[in-house]
Amino acid sequence: MSFINQDESDEVQAPADAASSGARMIPRITVQAFCEHSQTAQQIEAALADRRMAKVALTTHNGGLDGAVETYRSNPTPNLILVETSLPPEEIPSALEHLASVCDASTRVIVLGHVNDVFLYRDLIRSGVSEYLVLPVDAQAVVGAISDLFVSEDSAPIGRTIGFLPAKGGSGSSTIAHNVSWSVAQALRQEVVIVDLDLPFGTAGLDFNQDPPHGVADAVFAHEKIDATMLDRLMSKAATNINLLAAPGSLDHVYDFDESDFEQLLEITQTNMPLVVLDIPHQWNGWVRKTLTTLDEIVIVAEPDLANLRNAKTLVDMVKSLRPSDGDPLLVLNKVGVPKRPEISPAEFASALGIELVGQIPFEAALFGTAANNGQMISEVSAGHKINETLRAISLRAAGRGPMQAQKPSSGLALPSIFKRRKSA
Ligand SMILES: Nc1ncnc2c1ncn2[C@@H]1O[C@H](COP(=O)(O)OP(=O)(O)OP(=O)(O)O)[C@@H](O)[C@H]1O
Ligand SMILES: [Mg+2]
Repeated sequence: MSFINQDESDEVQAPADAASSGARMIPRITVQAFCEHSQTAQQIEAALADRRMAKVALTTHNGGLDGAVETYRSNPTPNLILVETSLPPEEIPSALEHLASVCDASTRVIVLGHVNDVFLYRDLIRSGVSEYLVLPVDAQAVVGAISDLFVSEDSAPIGRTIGFLPAKGGSGSSTIAHNVSWSVAQALRQEVVIVDLDLPFGTAGLDFNQDPPHGVADAVFAHEKIDATMLDRLMSKAATNINLLAAPGSLDHVYDFDESDFEQLLEITQTNMPLVVLDIPHQWNGWVRKTLTTLDEIVIVAEPDLANLRNAKTLVDMVKSLRPSDGDPLLVLNKVGVPKRPEISPAEFASALGIELVGQIPFEAALFGTAANNGQMISEVSAGHKINETLRAISLRAAGRGPMQAQKPSSGLALPSIFKRRKSA
């Protein structure tokens, strides 16, 4: 977070020069601006002419703070909200609490106000607002503020990294990873990159009916040369908001990676894409173990039989010891109800592992077989199938958005942590 003014004067200074973040491109974030005046919307839209904004999806809307609150009651929040308010300074903090109550914790907020008041500025920053800009603003100030949030050296990863880990080969982990990515991209309308870490046999390309010339192998063999520009070149677009770093799916190379060979690639994806989904193969080696330590969420995909249970248990124990201060992995049971197969009940399976069962997907040979053969997602083959609901619930949980965020009840939401800080400040 950048503080534009920390001295004792009562005037808010201009934000740091855009050059302070270098001329680096701002990542593929979504930005929505809620303005009260058409001039403000024009000033913000002018920022789109800056070449650093080329990957940013920015839209402007009417309605200011009230419009934003109304919109986010029933819509997902973007990576960044710009909100104009002409309320008197003493009313702004409490008005923002309404926005906080419908806002995801990962969403950043920049307030655009008409009052040049350092005490208001400090209060807002303390409450978790990322920046306060005094209107009128020029395009440079808008780009500079966004850049400081998302590009500067100390900017946090913009989104979330979710790894899908199969308890056993063939349990359907890749299929679930791809469908969950599709579902989350649709639900949150944010850009997702799927990184297929099964280099020799990965199926992300097949599942999205793509055969891209470049992908994850080029990225990992580039080692530390991989940067945001190269990442852009290597990703292929598979659908709206879905990008692939596909596996070569060939045996021309042998893939004996060192423990830290994926480190740079993962860091670049994490700082450039709002959501990163890793399709992890069923292997146990140094780089898989290391990768597990870099994830925000781990989803173990298992079938309800004994071998899966034994493997899932060893994975859960390992993940807990590798990440003692993170939450437990989540469990998805897949291929539940294979005809005539004796199975462990989902409740028993989950309680033996002591982790949360976030979804169970039935065995549906025709549906999944058709999707795999056509290179389609489940919702493309059968939009009305109830599996889509389960996939959506898994995707929101793994992305850190509870079902409450998805359906946005009119009251009772917990305040996101960034805004909670004002309570204890
Ligand atoms: N719920 C399901 N019902 C029926 N078939 C399924 C289901 N889920 C996945 N499949 C099928 O199971 C097969 C294996 O799936 P997938 O490749 O996703 O598994 P995996 O765990 O990633 O395997 P691998 O160990 O090869 O990485 C695929 O043919 C897929 O279409
Ligand atoms: Mg797989």
